[in-house]
This record gives sequence, structure tokens and C-alpha cells, in this order.
Amino acid sequence: MDDLTLLDPAVRLDDASVRRGGRLIWSKANLEVAAGTFAAVLGPNGSGKSTLIQAVLGTIPVTHGSIEVLGQSAGHDGTAIGYLPQRRSFEAGVRVRGVDVVRMGLDGHRWGVPLPWGATSKIHAAKVDEVIDLVGAADYAHRPIGQCSGGEQQRLLIAQALVRSPRLLLLDEPLDSLDLPNQAAVAGLIADISAASGITVLIVAHDINPIVDAIDQVIYVARGQVVSGRPDQVITTTTLSALYGTPIEVLTASDGRRVVVGQPDAVSHHGGAHGHDHDHHQGSRG
Ligand SMILES: Nc1ncnc2c1ncn2[C@@H]1O[C@H](COP(=O)(O)OP(=O)(O)O)[C@@H](O)[C@H]1O
Ligand SMILES: [Mg+2]
Repeated sequence: MDDLTLLDPAVRLDDASVRRGGRLIWSKANLEVAAGTFAAVLGPNGSGKSTLIQAVLGTIPVTHGSIEVLGQSAGHDGTAIGYLPQRRSFEAGVRVRGVDVVRMGLDGHRWGVPLPWGATSKIHAAKVDEVIDLVGAADYAHRPIGQCSGGEQQRLLIAQALVRSPRLLLLDEPLDSLDLPNQAAVAGLIADISAASGITVLIVAHDINPIVDAIDQVIYVARGQVVSGRPDQVITTTTLSALYGTPIEVLTASDGRRVVVGQPDAVSHHGGAHGHDHDHHQGSRG
């Protein structure tokens, strides 16, 4: 993938600052995400990770500096971006089928609005089937999505984000609320998509463990700053402990994989309290 470094970055923040509700969320952010790479966005709750994703998407303007996405100003053209917002689960009573949820991605996110289904429908239908197969959702895509498990819903939403063949995929906590086997499976799926397709992926992660061995870059949002580095620079006991402000240990398992222990927000996912693949409410998390 060396040739990719010669290309323009997929995302570039240049001295960028963002305010929300009159408050500075983070400022003077400088970073580049190389085209075709897989970057994780980490940081404590409320630090501005979702804000970063929305600023890249262009739905939140920068108040200073600039953000360039796929060679244009953020927000100029969203058609090459696939976006999975931070978890909104579907109530059990939602009758919309998974396949329809995926199809909505073709027309942006016009929830609840029936789509015109006309002349180009064959091409669209083929693309919908293709991404449903890609995420392994064919068995349940024709069920009401409210009756799919959390992991199944998440695969269908990833398919929705992929249906317009994006060049940039923005995933805001796609592993949140999944049990451990599903976290691993969905993380593996995203890593495979990133490796196979050349799509640039930014993923906000609560717990870095499921993706630690697949990522090319870590973007860390904390205390009003956005810093970025290679995983081997950032995913260390010293750096993570300093960033989180609490002791974190990075261990190497016997098979060579790294395991991060002590992430404050990830504890509940590893404590055995959520053994089922069901959704739970996010409390105050934004
Ligand atoms: N719509 C909004 N208006 C004003 N402030 C907001 C809004 N959404 C989020 N915030 C604030 O911006 C900060 C960053 O939020 P967010 O980007 O959602 O954090 P994270 O995703 O890291 O948990 C938080 O303090 C949050 O309260
Ligand atoms: Mg968030």
C-alpha cells in the first residue's frame, strides 16, 4: 500500500476548531488520514469524538481552520461518504425490513420516506444484495429489523453505509452494545472491508481491543485536543495512561496480539454483565 502515501489524504484537518453550544469542544487540530487506511478515534465520553466525525461529514462547521475531505471542503459533497451514526437501535416493533433499511442508504438517510423505485431499480437491487452479502446479512435481511439482534442490526446498518460505494466510511461506535463475539465479528468485517476495498475507514471505538491489531492510525480526542499517531506510538502503557489519566496496561498475548486493560469506558463490556446480544440504553452518552 506504499503508493497510497503518494495520494492526497482522504481527510485533512488544518488548525481546525469546533464549538457547540458556545463551548469550544476541541481546537487547533492537525491531522491527516491517508487514503485507504483504517483509523480509530478514541477518547473519553464527551470529549468530542462524534463531533469530529460530524465535522468531517460537514454537518458541524469548523469555527477556525479547515477540514478537507476527499480533496474538497468538508460538507461540499457527501455522496462519497458512508456514515453510521452513533447507535440508534430499532425497537422490537419496527416493521421495516433490513433490506429496506439498506436501500434507504441509496437515498441518504430519509427515514420513513418511501423511495421511488423505478427504472434504475435493477442496478440498485443488485447493489443492495451485494452489500447485504458482504456483511453476511442475507439470512435475516427480509425480517423486520426490530426483530433482528443487535449484531444483525449493526451489520445491516454497515451495509446501509456501504450501499453507495463510498470512498470514506465514518462509523461512530459501531461495536457499542454488541457482546464480545459480535464485537470481534463486526470488527473483523470492518477490517476486511478496509483491507479489501481501499475505502478509508474512520471508526470511533469505545474499546480498542476488538480493532487494535487491524488499525493503521489512532486519533485521540481528549481535553480539548485531537492528537494522532501510529498504533505502536499511541497504544502503549505510558501513552494511554497519560491520555486517559488513569492506569492502563498494554499486554502482549502469547499469540502476539495486544490486549489493552483498564480502559475506563470499556469495563462493562468485559465484566460479563452484558452476556446477550441485546441493546441497552446509552445513558448520557452523546
Ligand atoms: N447538539 C449539541 N449542542 C451542544 N453541545 C453538544 C451537542 N452535542 C454534543 N454536545 C457536547 O459536545 C461535547 C462533545 O460531544 P460528543 O462529540 O458527542 O462526544 P463523544 O462522542 O466523544 O462522547 C460534549 O460535551 C457534548 O455535551
Ligand atoms: Mg460519541
